[in-house]
Amino acid sequence: MNKEMIIVLDFGGQYNQLIARRVRECNVYAEVHPYTLSLDKIKEMNPKGIIFTGGPNSVYGEESPRYQKEIFDLGIPILGICYGSQLMAYMLGGTVETAPVSEYGRTEVDVDNSSAIFQGVKPQTICWMSHTDYISKAPEGFKVVAKTPVCPVAAMECPERKLYATQFHPEVMHTEEGQKMLSNFVYNVCGCSGDWKMDSFVETTIREIREKVGDGKVLCALSGGVDSSVAAVLLSKAVGKQLTCVFVDHGLLRKNEGDEVEAVFGPDGPYELNFIRVNAQERYYKKLAGVTEPEAKRKIIGEEFIRVFEEEAKKIGAVDFLVQGTIYPDVIESGLGKSAVIKSHHNVGGLPDHVDFKEIIEPLRLLFKDEVRKAGLELGIPEYLVYRQPFPGPGLGIRIIGEVTADKVRIVQDADYIYREEIAKAGLAKNLGQYFAALTNMRSVGVMGDERTYDYAIALRAVNTSDFMTADCSEIPFEVLQKVMTRIINEVKGVNRVMYDLTSKPPGTIEFE
Ligand code: XMP
Repeated sequence: MNKEMIIVLDFGGQYNQLIARRVRECNVYAEVHPYTLSLDKIKEMNPKGIIFTGGPNSVYGEESPRYQKEIFDLGIPILGICYGSQLMAYMLGGTVETAPVSEYGRTEVDVDNSSAIFQGVKPQTICWMSHTDYISKAPEGFKVVAKTPVCPVAAMECPERKLYATQFHPEVMHTEEGQKMLSNFVYNVCGCSGDWKMDSFVETTIREIREKVGDGKVLCALSGGVDSSVAAVLLSKAVGKQLTCVFVDHGLLRKNEGDEVEAVFGPDGPYELNFIRVNAQERYYKKLAGVTEPEAKRKIIGEEFIRVFEEEAKKIGAVDFLVQGTIYPDVIESGLGKSAVIKSHHNVGGLPDHVDFKEIIEPLRLLFKDEVRKAGLELGIPEYLVYRQPFPGPGLGIRIIGEVTADKVRIVQDADYIYREEIAKAGLAKNLGQYFAALTNMRSVGVMGDERTYDYAIALRAVNTSDFMTADCSEIPFEVLQKVMTRIINEVKGVNRVMYDLTSKPPGTIEFE
């Protein structure tokens, strides 16, 4: 079936699966493999092209991942991205150095349209950069085909050897014409014909789940968020009443959310699920008392979550499988292979060593958020649920910087509610990606009604993102922000300052912890 294949050779970058997925979107099959894949194996797989991913290392690091030089002589087209481009330059005799100016984020790049990978691309195009090292001199035989004022080799090529490299990331949405560049690579350089179509994910997964589960009992962790809702409905279609969904109200949910989740998935909702709500608020607040370190908080929340499940599982009797709505960005940002650990996402890095279940099923593990939404629609889940605001597993626990207390939860819930209400009133909800209020750990002096106050600052965040791996701050009309600020300060006790976070991802992350 997979006659044509592109191998994505993973050097530990954050975007390795995203590259594969973008290639698949060109109707060309792509697989991610670790950089330890042998040359013989590559020859055997006979790919139409190879893409070297980015990675957190410097080519000069002793431990840095490398590959045998012979790979460049196979005659198979290679595209190096970021670290991959530096590796190509370094191994073929170019010069890689620490850039005098690191580039992060959107950057205007001048490209040479005569290059096969830049055909049909605007001569000046917006690309996503994220690097501290750069290629200062291309290897002999290579032509520089893109540059920025501070990056002399933003892209290079040696068409005779079918070698191409870009310092920027064509795979992320913020590289405006990145999909065209990847398509140019697979079609113009690798000569692919585009013979691959994605299997219906839903159908295949339901079949696989049925085979795996047999007549076993399944317990599903339902948070009411998009991911776990899609996972739950997927499981219920696969194994029906063998499935019990447990919804843990950890006291770190958005305002009224517990009741809303119960209304949808509980006995009065449209689904045929065994639904159990566990009110564990107090238990969580006790565990979190005095804990300030973000990773420690994440671990506690994740671990407590599993403990609650174990208890529920015991009540239900022998449970074989635990289902979680982990999606791909959660996996990769928790540190897969050589990638740097950014955050240990709830349900992944947060898993305790000992888990009282036979196996964990994560049916969405390889999907990105927008693919999860597509799967949700295919499953017949209503649009309002599928497109609801993403909400992280550890909930408000990671939107409260520092120690979590019941009072701080109340503050952030109320502020967030006002923010969402005003965004909806202004008719902006549809155009925004993810937006929420967070409680900073900063207290400052203010004055209200002639009285001195010494209260917390709320940070408002809104980002546009399609894959959650990169994000840009959204523009919200000033009047709306001002209205939100006034209401939060007037209505939420304990807050005397409101700020708007402008940071993109990278260098920031979407959540605060
Ligand atoms: P970050 O903060 O890592 O967030 O840029 C990217 C996306 O992931 C969500 N997020 C999580 N989702 N468990 C989840 O299920 C987690 O531990 C977690 N941490 C962050 C975040 O809301 C954003 O949509």
